[in-house]
Amino acid sequence: MKVMVVFGTRPEAIKMCPVIKELELHKEIKTLVCITGQHREMLQQVLDVFGVEPDYNLDIMEQRQTLFDVTTSIITKIKAVLEQEKPDIVLVHGDTTTTFATALSCFYLQIPVGHVEAGLRTGNLYSPYPEEFNRKCVSIIAALNFAPTELSRQNLIREGYAENSIYITGNTAIDALATTVDHLYRNRILDWAKGSRLILVTAHRRENLGAPLKSMLRAISRIIEEFPDTKAVYPVHLNPAVREVANEVLGRNERVQLIEPLNVLDFHNFMAQSYLILTDSGGIQEEAPSLGKPVLVMRDVTERPEGVAAGTLKIVGTTEENIYQETKRLLEDPIEHKRMSEAKNPYGDGHASQRIVDVVCGYLKEKDNVMDGGKLE
Ligand code: UD1
Ligand code: UDP
Repeated sequence: MKVMVVFGTRPEAIKMCPVIKELELHKEIKTLVCITGQHREMLQQVLDVFGVEPDYNLDIMEQRQTLFDVTTSIITKIKAVLEQEKPDIVLVHGDTTTTFATALSCFYLQIPVGHVEAGLRTGNLYSPYPEEFNRKCVSIIAALNFAPTELSRQNLIREGYAENSIYITGNTAIDALATTVDHLYRNRILDWAKGSRLILVTAHRRENLGAPLKSMLRAISRIIEEFPDTKAVYPVHLNPAVREVANEVLGRNERVQLIEPLNVLDFHNFMAQSYLILTDSGGIQEEAPSLGKPVLVMRDVTERPEGVAAGTLKIVGTTEENIYQETKRLLEDPIEHKRMSEAKNPYGDGHASQRIVDVVCGYLKEKDNVMDGGKLE
């Protein structure tokens, strides 16, 4: 039985490496890892932390790549890999263009797809863009849907997907988190921030590039100016369109450190030691409730309402004034900060990978039996 895991970006890698580790415990399964290389350095950082060595690397990344570039390169290059290996199932994750293009390629070759982190929805096809479209398309194709929560399961049922194709597993981000956070962790940048309230920042979404990103970072600049007991650390995504704006708006502020992307082990520990987090990321919204860290989500909508219900996340939009006002409010209100800091975990018990692999094994065995049953004497 052959399982191929395909991913291409940092967050997919963080959430699929625990699944790969679990698959590798099953000797009856041949596990193959194919990376598209939609990300390069940021993906390698994760592979290094988890000690995963891909069997295939499509190496498609280009500077300032467009959605056309990513989609067409993957489809063109992955065909030969899928045709050569003929996996019994391909596992993809979430909502990136790697996920969509891989699922589409599998559909063309009639290879079953298992979708990890299935059923997240905002209901707005353009936010996040193009991720809402990507994940909806993968749902059409997937034979197995691994929904992290009951809510994501309900989203799939509402769209008419068969109940027996959907499994609630928890989110594999929580599996990863269990291996990274260490209360004795130290780092010179955290030493620099000691004695201040640390605001951890990330921002990269495609729909925010340009003016919205500038507004978001201006709000942070105003906050740092106004609150002398705060410092900000922003590990800047390698996208040049992000780096230019980050440098322009925050580059000269002495209480802001713009740093290279952190590896996941470092980043989780930075989260654990921060006072609050400002982000437009998806994955960080899942990790923060477990760590009990307040997150102001710089977006208009979220596909992670579980974190909002848990009290950890607050949607603050992308306008300068709103982000500034909401951050100011939180910094001035210790009771609200304490309320948002209560660690809750809507995303499972850290055993999502195990559940996913159990279902995959059952599916493959059943497929095997059907094939055997159909054999001519
Ligand atoms: C992608 C995903 C997004 C996910 C994000 C995680 C799509 C359309 N977008 O967006 O869903 O949230 O990854 O971070 O699938 N770059 C490098 N080195 C790297 C990574 C990126 O130089 O290791 C630069 C390149 O110039 C590249 C650009 O960043 O062209 C953008 O990368 P891309 O994957 O297209 O978009 P992301 O915003 O990273
Ligand atoms: N992350 C990381 N280093 C960083 C910033 C984020 O390892 O410098 C991790 C973070 O903990 C989370 C994931 O990357 O697991 C989120 O990735 P990103 O924000 O790039 O993508 P998204 O989740 O928005 O798709």
